[in-house]
Amino acid sequence: MRILLGVAAGIAAYKSALLLRLFTEAGHDVRVVPTRASLEFVGRATWEALSGHPVTVDVFDDVPSVEHVKLGREAELVVVAPATADLLARAASGRCDDLLTAALLTVRCPVLVAPAMHTEMWLHPATQANVATLRARGIHVLEPAVGRLTGPDTGPGRLPDPEDIARAALALVAPQDLAGRHIVISAGGTREPIDPVRFLGNRSSGHQGYALARAAARRGAQVTVVAANVALPDPHGVEVRRVETTAELAEAVRAAAVTADVVVMAAAVADFRPDEPAATKIKKVGDGAPTIRLTQTEDVLAGLVATRRPGQVVVGFAAETGDADGDVQAHGAAKARRKGADLLVVNPVGVGVGFGDVPNEVTLLDAAGHVVATGAGAKDEVAELVLDQVVARLVRP
Ligand code: CTP
Repeated sequence: MRILLGVAAGIAAYKSALLLRLFTEAGHDVRVVPTRASLEFVGRATWEALSGHPVTVDVFDDVPSVEHVKLGREAELVVVAPATADLLARAASGRCDDLLTAALLTVRCPVLVAPAMHTEMWLHPATQANVATLRARGIHVLEPAVGRLTGPDTGPGRLPDPEDIARAALALVAPQDLAGRHIVISAGGTREPIDPVRFLGNRSSGHQGYALARAAARRGAQVTVVAANVALPDPHGVEVRRVETTAELAEAVRAAAVTADVVVMAAAVADFRPDEPAATKIKKVGDGAPTIRLTQTEDVLAGLVATRRPGQVVVGFAAETGDADGDVQAHGAAKARRKGADLLVVNPVGVGVGFGDVPNEVTLLDAAGHVVATGAGAKDEVAELVLDQVVARLVRP
C-alpha cells in the first residue's frame, strides 16, 4: 500500500522514524512529507534513507511533477505524526502553504492524525475546535497519550507509541464491510419539557453516537443519525434527523428502522417525563417549590427488539455508575438479559467519566449477558470495535 507520512515540527518527530520503519517492514511504500520546520528535529537525509524516496517540503521544490496532487492521488493512506497545534490549525482551515498541507487537500483516502504538543496547547479551545472540525470531516484524530512531555511537565500531549499509531492507521483502511447496509444510530440525550423554558435532560453529548456514524459511513454504510440535542457538527456523508423529546426520538427511530439492517441506540433516552408540562413558565411563589409529577416514557430499545425483522441487528448502550446493588458489570449483564438486544455496550459513567469527547471504556455483551468483547480508547476506536461485532452478526446478503 502507498502511505503518505506527514511529519510536523514537534520533538516527537524522531518517533516517526520508527513508525516509518514499521510501515516499510510491513511491506508498504512510504513517501515522507515533512514540514520545513520539522527538519530542525529530524533531517531530510533520515527520511530519504529510511523511505528510499527523495523528500521535498515545498510545492515549488519539484514543480514539473505537481507533487502535491501526485502525492494526494497516489496515497492509499495518510498518517500525520506528530501533528502540531499549528499543523492542525492549518489543516482545519484548509490552508496549503507547504507541500504537506497542499497534499492534504488533494487526498481521497483515509487520513490519520496523531497530535503531540504540550498539554495546554492540546486542551486550548482553539486546538480542540480544530480537532472537532477535522473529525467532522472524517479525519481520524488520535487522542494523544498521557505522560512525560518535552520538559519536566507531564499530561496529555505525548505522541502515542509508533505501534499504536500504525495499528490505528492500518485499521482505517477498513474493508467496506457495511457497504449496501443501512444503519440507524440514535445519539445525544433527550429533553423532556417541564415548562416552555425548562426541561429534564442528561449529560450525553452525542460524541459516541457521532463516532459510530462516522465509522459506519467509513465502512460503506448508508447512515441515518437521529440526533437528540447534539451540538456537534454533522458527520460527513450522513443523514441527520434532529429530535428533542423521547417521543420524537421514538417516532424517528421507528420510521428509519423500517429499512435498517442495524439499529444502534446510543442516545441517552429519558426514562421519565413530566406528566403535564406547564403551558406557561412556572413562577416562584413565596418559599414553596412545585411538585412535578413524572410518568415513564416508552422504552424505544425494547420496542425495537420486540419488532425486529429477521436478520436485523439491534444494539443498545448502557451507561452505568454501579451502586449498592451491584457494580457496572453486574448491572450491565442484568440489563443485557432484560433488554434482549443482540449487543449491549456497557460503559462506566459519572461526573467527568464517559461523557463528552473523552476516551471510553466498554464491555460488549450478548443477549445472554456474556462478554463478547472489551476495549478502551477514543470514541472513534470504540465505534470500530462495536461495528466489528455488528458485522459479525449480520447475515451475508
Ligand atoms: N433506552 C430506550 N428508551 C428508554 C430508555 C432507554 O430506548 N426509555 C435505551 C437507551 O438508548 C440504551 C438502553 O436503552 O440503548 C439502555 O438505557 P438505560 O437508560 O441504561 O436503561 P434503562 O432501561 O433506562 O435502565 P436504568 O434503570 O438503568 O435507567
